[in-house]
Amino acid sequence: ALVPELNMKPPSQPELFDFEGVSMVHYFTDNWEKVKNFQARPDDIIIATYPKAGTTWVSYILDLLYFGKDDPECQSSQPIYMRVPFLESCFKVIPSGTELADNLTTSPLLIKTHLPVQLVPKSFWEQNSKIVYVARNAKDNAVSYFHFDRMNMAQPAPGDWNTFLQKFMEGKNVFGPWYDHVNGWWEKKQTYSNLIYLFYEDLVEDTGHEVERLCSFLGLSTSVEEREKITKGVQFDAMKQNKMTNYSTIPVMDFKTSPFMRKGKVGDWKSNFTVAQNEQFDEVYKQKMKNTTVKFRTEISYLSSGGCTRVLAKKGYI
Ligand code: A3P
Repeated sequence: ALVPELNMKPPSQPELFDFEGVSMVHYFTDNWEKVKNFQARPDDIIIATYPKAGTTWVSYILDLLYFGKDDPECQSSQPIYMRVPFLESCFKVIPSGTELADNLTTSPLLIKTHLPVQLVPKSFWEQNSKIVYVARNAKDNAVSYFHFDRMNMAQPAPGDWNTFLQKFMEGKNVFGPWYDHVNGWWEKKQTYSNLIYLFYEDLVEDTGHEVERLCSFLGLSTSVEEREKITKGVQFDAMKQNKMTNYSTIPVMDFKTSPFMRKGKVGDWKSNFTVAQNEQFDEVYKQKMKNTTVKFRTEISYLSSGGCTRVLAKKGYI
């Protein structure tokens, strides 16, 4: 199996620097020549997100939709980061994203990226590649990113929550400002028809419905039974238990500090933001988002009464 032997830890968390106008760490720029010149094939599918917006979730959904039926063996022996290469990554402890992508023989190639739209290699546009973009509301996204930076040695050290939040509002995060990312991709969607723009909140509220939308976007005629099975298999608890999707096989993450599959909730920001932080954040948000039509939900109504489980049960999925 391709599960790598991973027992090295980078010595310290890397520093941020400016790369073509975007904050980056070297893990995502070291292989830039190859990333920039990556040759996409016509059926490659990109999963694009700002970090912590639900990348792994949607990657696994697509993996199951395409390969779940024919290739169950593979799903239980290869972690998601080997099956869905992270294009710009160059972590040394596993092959780079471009190397993994070049060596994968499965088709179509599912490929993950966190790049802001302006940095996506041109070959994907030339090939008119299908793109699944996933966005998550800024508040939950910020909280999730904070905990990720605490536990991941490949990310810059976040400082305390308030320090991190100030940096988030200034866009001093790996892959740049959340605001520019979600807006840039939203704008792209207005002119590029092979792009579906999903929201994490919709996925939590009704996973089955989003899976259905994905199938129709991708032109897949997956049966209702298959879709229901997938919907069940990609719920938070299932993915948290699943070694191939919970990142427990990668050594740069310290699960004692915070697990990769942390809470999986909408509205959990309320237990992190102070009232003052929330007011400040709303002010900054209004400014940064004043010229866009994209709308996010920072809470969903049914959470207190069972969330996803309730919706799935109502539909007879579980
Ligand atoms: P939290 O830190 O809020 O728990 P990414 O894959 O882009 O890094 O995003 C990770 C975030 O998505 C984490 O958020 C993780 O728990 C959440 N997530 C992953 N799989 C999920 C699922 N099946 N259901 C709900 N949330 C999920």
